[in-house]
Amino acid sequence: MVMPYEWVSSPSTSAPQAVAAVKLATSIRNVTREYVLKSETVRALRGVSFDVPEGDYVAIMGPSGSGKSTLLNLLGCLDKPSSGQLFLGQDDISAMTDDQLAEVRSRRIGFVFQSYNLIQQLTVVENIQVPLFYQGRLGAREQQHAVELAETVGLKDRLDHRPNQLSGGQQQRVAIARSLVNDPYFILADEATGNLDSRTTEEILTLFDRLNQEGRTIIMVTHEDEVARRAKRVIRLKDGLLRSDTVNRQQDRDAARAEQREAVELLAAREE
Ligand SMILES: Nc1ncnc2c1ncn2[C@@H]1O[C@H](COP(=O)(O)OP(=O)(O)OP(=O)(O)O)[C@@H](O)[C@H]1O
Ligand SMILES: [Mg+2]
Repeated sequence: MVMPYEWVSSPSTSAPQAVAAVKLATSIRNVTREYVLKSETVRALRGVSFDVPEGDYVAIMGPSGSGKSTLLNLLGCLDKPSSGQLFLGQDDISAMTDDQLAEVRSRRIGFVFQSYNLIQQLTVVENIQVPLFYQGRLGAREQQHAVELAETVGLKDRLDHRPNQLSGGQQQRVAIARSLVNDPYFILADEATGNLDSRTTEEILTLFDRLNQEGRTIIMVTHEDEVARRAKRVIRLKDGLLRSDTVNRQQDRDAARAEQREAVELLAAREE
């Protein structure tokens, strides 16, 4: 059972001060993105609006060509809207220069990719610090913070390993720790479990659950219903428009987690 997001996020009965207290990680206002080609103009996003409050956990879904990657690029400050507004926290990124955009991107957004994008020559702790390196911020304090993040994602005993000495799930944990190093507005995950088997997918989703419970905002693109069932909210795009925006009830999320855990345990038992 899913409920329209509006019902949960802004009940008409709530006091104005309660609504005002909700801080937004990002807000998208009537955003369009058109790709102008020689022969035609592709309208990849045709007026999309939604808010993501801090602490939310959103799965973005939709068929191929519906505009998911286009939206992700905008949320990740890799691109600007053709029209409309996009806020990160209080900042309107649609009005920023490319340099300002690059600054926001490197400092305030945590990226997690399907292919991990780790640097092979660097250790776990060094990979976690990569975003700081580009800002010229590498000292003892940063080193300590990276170690703590490695511990947070369960890699305490792998600090000096290099990516090729880690499993896929462990590599993705490094990427998740790296995404947190700048204390981002949100984690932006692009098919973060796309390369992982069901056991490792379950592990990573459990990590996302925990980070979200600790207050981290997560926005992920996924093709998998099983993954989307674990999020708090599912936004579906179609033909460049927002087709639906629904909340996964907590009991349904719990059921999805239990089912997926059970499936993984069954699989493990069969392999023994
Ligand atoms: N750089 C580009 N130039 C021209 N057209 C583009 C460009 N990028 C995307 N498009 C078009 O915009 C539309 C939306 O593309 P987008 O990549 O956002 O879809 P998607 O939902 O991510 O699809 P998929 O699930 O296949 O990755 C498509 O029709 C695509 O062909
Ligand atoms: Mg895509």
